[in-house]
Order: sequence, then C-alpha cells, then structure tokens
Amino acid sequence: MNQLTEPRCKPHHARNDIERVLIDRHRIDQRIAELGQEIKRDLDEQLVDTTEIVLVPILTGSIIFLADLIRHLPQKIRISVVTATSYPGATTQSKGTQIAGALPDDLEGKHVLIVDDILDSGGTIRLIREEVSKRQPKSLRCCVLLRKMIPQALETPCEYIGFDIPNEFVVGVGLDYNNYYRNLPDICVLKKDVL
Ligand code: IMP
Ligand code: MG
Repeated sequence: MNQLTEPRCKPHHARNDIERVLIDRHRIDQRIAELGQEIKRDLDEQLVDTTEIVLVPILTGSIIFLADLIRHLPQKIRISVVTATSYPGATTQSKGTQIAGALPDDLEGKHVLIVDDILDSGGTIRLIREEVSKRQPKSLRCCVLLRKMIPQALETPCEYIGFDIPNEFVVGVGLDYNNYYRNLPDICVLKKDVL
C-alpha cells in the first residue's frame, strides 16, 4: 500500500505534511551502496601507506547518510564532526554558512572525506573545504547525497554525488525543515502550506 495514503497515518505523523516522494528509500539504499563501493575502491588505491582516513560529516543533515555510507566502508576510519548552519529555524532560504564550534584539529597528513547531505549554493562545502585544507590533509575529497541542479552547486568541486535533483526544497534522510522531518526514510517535497 502507498504509505502516503495509509489510513493509520496519524495527525502528527511527518508523512501527513508530504506532497510527494522524490527519491524512495530503495533507490537511496542502492545508490549509497554504489557510492560506498566507489569510495572504498578509491581509498584502497590511496592506501599504499598507513595514512589515516578521517571522515568529516557536517552536522546535522549528514547523520543518516553518514550512518548508511560508513557501513559500506571496510577500512579503519575515524570520524570528526563539524557543525554548520545555513538554514536556521523555519526557512527554505540559505542565510549564509556559519561554523559552530571548533573544526577538527587532527587532520594534518590524513586522507579526509567531507560528508554532507546536500549541495545547494555550495557555500557550506566551499567553506568547510577551505577550512579543512588549511589543516594540510594529505588528500581531501567531498561526498554529498544530493546536489541541486543549479549553477552554483554544479560549479562547486565535489568528488562524490548521490543524486542530482531539481531546485526544490526537500526533506527526509537527515534533511530538515525547522529541524523536523529528518526521520523520513525517503527524500520528499513538503506540501506548500507547511512551508
Ligand atoms: P549550501 O551551503 O547552500 O550548499 O547549503 C547546504 C546546506 O543547506 C545543507 O547542508 C543543508 O543543511 C541545507 N539545505 C540546502 N538545501 C536544502 C533543502 O532542500 N532541504 C533541507 N536543507 C537544505
Ligand atoms: Mg547541513
């Protein structure tokens, strides 16, 4: 049965606020497995020495993607989180990226992979990439689950991309609106009257 029309969908269930599913969980799982294989292969090629691998997930949006992705990586990895905000509160417009707290300081000489949920204006990835590269990693790559098909996003360097999507505000799989809907298992578009 279509989950959107499921009769047991109660008033406060996040699904009630959804207009449509853009990418379903099955496709997301498949694509994350492919990305994992690609990253695993590239890391294995790089690992001719004992250089450490550090994943730098950007909180909070990347948490679900990160959890799914790292289960496809068999290498010994470390995780050093960074917190960034660009959509504070109830907004669908970027307010410019702010880094909250300190950036990891253990990145020098390491293979670093930045992980984020979505590449939109590119401000977040550009800023974190610049800050991480100041710490002189041995290699630096980026991975995002989604990229919006807008010029700023397409022009932002990023090595691994899950899906290119239309320029719409989406939620689910870690992405939020006003800090809700991160738990939705599919990438979804919200009803207009919710925004
Ligand atoms: P950028 O800096 O404009 O590329 O935006 C990146 C950040 O904004 C992401 O890490 C998300 O947290 C947030 N963001 C951008 N687009 C969306 C969206 O469609 N839904 C939810 N969050 C978004
Ligand atoms: Mg984010």
